[in-house]
Amino acid sequence: MFNAEAYRRDFPILSRQVHGQPLVYLDNAATSQKPQAVIDAIVEYYTQHNANVHRGVHQLSDESTTAFHDSRRVIAEFFGAKPSELVIVRNTTEAANLVARSWGEQAVTADDVLLLSEMDHHSNLVPWQQLAAKTQAQIMVVPFTETGRLDMGRLQQLLTEAGARLKLVALSHVSNALGTVNPIAEIAELLADHRHQYQVSTRFFVDGAQAAPHLPIEFAKLGVDFYAVSAHKMLGPMGIGAVLIPEALLAELPPFLYGGGMIDVVTTHTATFIDDLEERFTAGTPDVAGLVGWAAACQYLAKIGMSQVAKYDVELVELTIQKLSQLPAITILGPTKPEKSDQELGRVGSVSFVYKGVHSHDVSQILDSVGVAVRSGHHCTMPLHVKLGVAASTRASFQLYTTPAELDVLVTGLEKVKATFGV
Ligand SMILES: Cc1ncc(COP(=O)(O)O)c(C=O)c1O
Repeated sequence: MFNAEAYRRDFPILSRQVHGQPLVYLDNAATSQKPQAVIDAIVEYYTQHNANVHRGVHQLSDESTTAFHDSRRVIAEFFGAKPSELVIVRNTTEAANLVARSWGEQAVTADDVLLLSEMDHHSNLVPWQQLAAKTQAQIMVVPFTETGRLDMGRLQQLLTEAGARLKLVALSHVSNALGTVNPIAEIAELLADHRHQYQVSTRFFVDGAQAAPHLPIEFAKLGVDFYAVSAHKMLGPMGIGAVLIPEALLAELPPFLYGGGMIDVVTTHTATFIDDLEERFTAGTPDVAGLVGWAAACQYLAKIGMSQVAKYDVELVELTIQKLSQLPAITILGPTKPEKSDQELGRVGSVSFVYKGVHSHDVSQILDSVGVAVRSGHHCTMPLHVKLGVAASTRASFQLYTTPAELDVLVTGLEKVKATFGV
């Protein structure tokens, strides 16, 4: 049995109180809490090994360089990728910007189509909009269905409409507002056929920010060109993330940032850049402590097993849907039932909802007063909220330390909303 209560003890912050109540942290989609193992790894790095990496001919620099490379290896392995395929960035947002700049600005022209989705986070929309504005490429948009799933029929039509002009498909693996798990491997297969049929090199960018904390990711098997993740949503530190890029594609990409670390020979007027894939995208001093902390988070999760984490997460989501469905004022966003009786729910991580007649900020404030931390607003998905005809929603999101008892506190808080607003 999955023992969330036992894992809770690994997270010091979970034992604190807010407003005199035990903290019920249900804002994990915004950022997760960190286990002691991650905090210790960062403290140990700074207290024992801190020095700049590479080129330093002294003990600490050697240790720091080893920590840097070992951490990269652990993180890459966690995602089923090679260390050379891991391009370190600050977060998923930077990953999309890196790809839009490094790949997009050289590959995309005015004849091209970028296919985006209506359910995506602004971080997976705005960088492509900027790229389209610079290149005059056309944006097409995949809608989502009434039940909150990507409209696969429309997606296939759009692939045909775009034909040989299709340069990029950018989608999220898991929606941060609907919780929907998009069929990434299936779409990757459609794109493989598309490339073959039109003899083009359409690229597939996947935003894995909300998938990496809840699902096992096997990059080598997914068949995508770019897979972006943020450490802070998966028990690691803030300010570090990655975009996974297959070696062959990475070798074609120009560097994103220029400066120390990634050069070969520099004169006052020119520079050449190293071929080494790991180094070419590491300009300047890397966040070694961040990597060390992230690697510790990967090890923590790997020890529990991501399939166990995923299974427990689905239980939490189903239980939340069941509990919230009993409150008449609440409308749940996203899938609430499997598409077919023999299928899974296809949803992880969070449950967003609208409380009829009460603004989500008021809902969140009342929940906060009973110790429950949730998020309110548009969750950086304005197009999604516009489509649903709501200005904002309240989102409860989970981690492996979330317990069913905490979901009961959420319901108690929502009953207080009813008592306060009389709706
Ligand atoms: C689906 C999705 N994509 C991208 C992001 C952006 O992540 P970051 O702020 O770490 O760049 C988020 C953050 O909430 C997200 O949920």
